[in-house]
Amino acid sequence: MKKLFRKQEAVILIIMGTLAILIVVNDKNNNSMTSGTQQDPDKNLPLKQTHRPLHMWWKRNSCSLNAMNNNLPGFSDLPDHIKDFLRYRHCKHFQILQDIPNKCVSPEQSKEIFLLLVIKSSPENYERREVIRKTWGQERTYEGVQVHRLFISGVNSNRMSAKKSNQIIQLENQQYQDILQWDFHDTFFNLSLKQVLFFKWKEKNCPGVKFLLNGDDDVFVNTENVVHYLKGFRSDRHLFVGTLIMNVGPIRAKWSKYYVPEQVTTLNSYPPYCGGGGFLMSDFTAKAIYNASLNLMLFPIDDVYIGMCLQKAGLFPSSHMGIRTAGVHAPSENTDTFDPCFYQELLLVHRFAPYEMVLMWQAIHDATLKCGASAPK
Ligand SMILES: *[C@@H]1O[C@H](CO)[C@@H](O)[C@H](O)[C@H]1NC(C)=O
Ligand SMILES: *[C@@H]1O[C@H](CO)[C@@H](O)[C@H](O)[C@H]1NC(C)=O
Repeated sequence: MKKLFRKQEAVILIIMGTLAILIVVNDKNNNSMTSGTQQDPDKNLPLKQTHRPLHMWWKRNSCSLNAMNNNLPGFSDLPDHIKDFLRYRHCKHFQILQDIPNKCVSPEQSKEIFLLLVIKSSPENYERREVIRKTWGQERTYEGVQVHRLFISGVNSNRMSAKKSNQIIQLENQQYQDILQWDFHDTFFNLSLKQVLFFKWKEKNCPGVKFLLNGDDDVFVNTENVVHYLKGFRSDRHLFVGTLIMNVGPIRAKWSKYYVPEQVTTLNSYPPYCGGGGFLMSDFTAKAIYNASLNLMLFPIDDVYIGMCLQKAGLFPSSHMGIRTAGVHAPSENTDTFDPCFYQELLLVHRFAPYEMVLMWQAIHDATLKCGASAPK
């Protein structure tokens, strides 16, 4: 009896040991799992053989949470969304629910597209998408070059809302063919994930697109000005412009939307980055960011994460005065910040209500609009 018990115990121990090894291997594998073919060929050579089967294993079973984070000091005191981020930080593969593989006709034909407008939109933001389609997000040619539009989305984290918003997205896609949706919770701390999933999709389906505008669905864009500006650049050189943010670091105050505790990063400062409301980049830079992301753990603040990827790629973001992700501040009390003459000169401004976008788009295209010398540069 006693001997039998020992035997069972031994079997259990062996099983548990194997499981523990599997978890460790998977965890290791995860940080570089997509990079098996992409990363520095000298690195991790011995691991390479094991990559593919494990990678498939993840894919079939969807990503399971990493319970080891529960043991981080202070973990139990963290806000729920941060606990959630830490538990799922390693997950970079999610099923695509709404796909438009022929958005750029074919990977080869994607060279014909000059600018792709990539707009982060939560599933329920139907009105914002409708207005963007009618205004600055129109798919058409500007100055003889093609502009296409894509919204990128996840799934509402509330199950009841998800059912409805998935339905509306499906309807919209039948009509417009302009939304990509993946099966992850569309939350603030998952925006970096959304960005990385998009880059991966782009390399597969639209690798030849020349420039990208990445923005939120509450920005106003003067599309003509953006196209005009980008025409002065080469898509095979580095270009990354927006509202440049430098010399800031993690906010350690728990109440803040941007709170990032030490358990997420021990860095005291962020690399230079551009405000996430909207920025422009060349195809070269988009590829470089994606490459860097393959070997960089996700970070909860999406614009900072892109700054981290740029840094890893040895590239710098720059500032463009016409991109105002912090909004437009009136020079004096008597200045109307909704003056169309401001926006005739600008490229992108945060933040606009849907009806304001309609009004402003109409106003800047009004042939009778006369702007004096006081318009800002
Ligand atoms: C990100 O999405 C995954 C998959 O839906 C989810 O499990 C996780 O909780 C989300 N993370 C955050 C911080 O919302
Ligand atoms: C990205 O990685 C691929 C594969 O390693 C490489 O061919 C390409 O030159 C890289 N691109 C950039 C812009 O770094």
